[in-house]
Amino acid sequence: MNAPAPDLPMTVPAEGLPARVRIHEVGARDGLQNEKAIVPAVVKAEFIRRLAGTGLTTIEATSFVHPKWVPQLADAEELFLAVADLPVSLPVLVPNERGLDRALALGARRVAVFASATESFARANLNRTVDEALAMFEPVVSRAKAEGVHVRGYLSMCFGDPWEGAVPVPQVVRVCRALLDMGCDELSLGDTIGVATPGHVTALLAALTGAGVPVSALGVHFHDTYGQALSNTLAALQRGVTTVDASAGGLGGCPYAKSATGNLATEDLVWMLRGLGIDTGIDLGRLVATSVWMAAHLGRPSPSRTVRALSHQEQ
Ligand code: HMG
Ligand code: MG
Repeated sequence: MNAPAPDLPMTVPAEGLPARVRIHEVGARDGLQNEKAIVPAVVKAEFIRRLAGTGLTTIEATSFVHPKWVPQLADAEELFLAVADLPVSLPVLVPNERGLDRALALGARRVAVFASATESFARANLNRTVDEALAMFEPVVSRAKAEGVHVRGYLSMCFGDPWEGAVPVPQVVRVCRALLDMGCDELSLGDTIGVATPGHVTALLAALTGAGVPVSALGVHFHDTYGQALSNTLAALQRGVTTVDASAGGLGGCPYAKSATGNLATEDLVWMLRGLGIDTGIDLGRLVATSVWMAAHLGRPSPSRTVRALSHQEQ
C-alpha cells in the first residue's frame, strides 16, 4: 500500500485485474460531435494537443462523415492536418469508402467503422439496415487492411436501444462476429445510451469469449447516463478487457440517439485505475486542467466528479 500524493487516491490493488489499461480517448470526437455550438478547429486542435501532453496515447480526432449529418465535425480535414504531427495515435471514424478516401488522403493510420446491433439505430445513424451497413463497411475494412491501416469496429446499442429496449446478447454477438470476420483488428462495445449494468456487461463478454472472440480484441465504450459507466468498466476489467474508451471531462453523447449523455469521464477512470494500482501513464493533474480549459470554452462546468473535486469547480 503506497501513501497517496496530494490529489491522488491511495493505491490498493485488487486481485484479478489487468496490470495495464489502454485508454482510448474519445472526447474530441464523441464529445464534441454532440455539442450544440460548433467548436472552432483551432480550439479542437489545442484540446487534442493538451490531451497528448497528459500521456494519452490514443486520441480519436474526428470523423470523416457527411457534414450534413454531423456539422460539428465538418472541419475534419483542417483539424486532422493541424494535429497530424503529434506523436500519438489519432484514429478517425469512416462510415464508408468516401470517408476512407478522405482519411487516407491525409495519411490517417487508424480508422474506425461504426456498426449497430439494432435495426433502429442503424437506420437513424447510417441510413441503412444492419446488414446493409455491414456491406458498406466491407470494402472499407479490406482496403484499409491492404494499406496496413489499423481498423477498429465500433458496435453501438450493445445493451439497450431507445426504440427497441433491451438488446438480446446473441444479436450483439452476431454483429461482433461479422465485424471481426471482415478483418477489424479490435471491437469497441458501445453502451450508447448508458443503460448497461455490470451483470449485463459480464454476460455479454462471457457470450463473446464463448463464441471464440479473444478478449484482447475487445474494448468497452460506456456512456454514463445512469451513472453506471465506472461500475461497468470494473466488470469488464474483471473479465480481462484492457482497452477502455473514455472522454476527457465526460464530454459526449450521440446526435442520433436522444437519450445518450457523455461518455465515462477519463478523469474518473484514471482516478479508479490509479487507486487500483493499474498503470495508464496519464498525468491526472494535467488532464483535469485540460478539461477545465475545455469547459471554459464550452461555457459550462465538466460533469466529471473527479474534475469537479480536483479543480474545486462550483456545482
Ligand atoms: P447517406 O445519405 O445514405 O449517404 O448517408 P449516401 O451514401 O447516399 O451519399 C449521399 C451523399 O453524401 C453523396 O453526395 C455522397 O458523396 C455524400 P452527392 O453525390 O449526393 O453529392 N457522402 C459523403 N460526403 C462526405 N463524407 C462522407 C460521405 N459519405 C457520403 N463520408 C452516411 C450515409 C453514412 C454518409 C451518413 O449516414 C453519415 O454520415 N452518418 C454518420 C453519423 C455519425 O457520424 N454518427 C455519430 C458517430 S457514431 C457514435 O457516435 C456511436 C459511437 O460513439 C459508439 C457508441 O456510443 O455506441 C461510435
Ligand atoms: Mg459513443
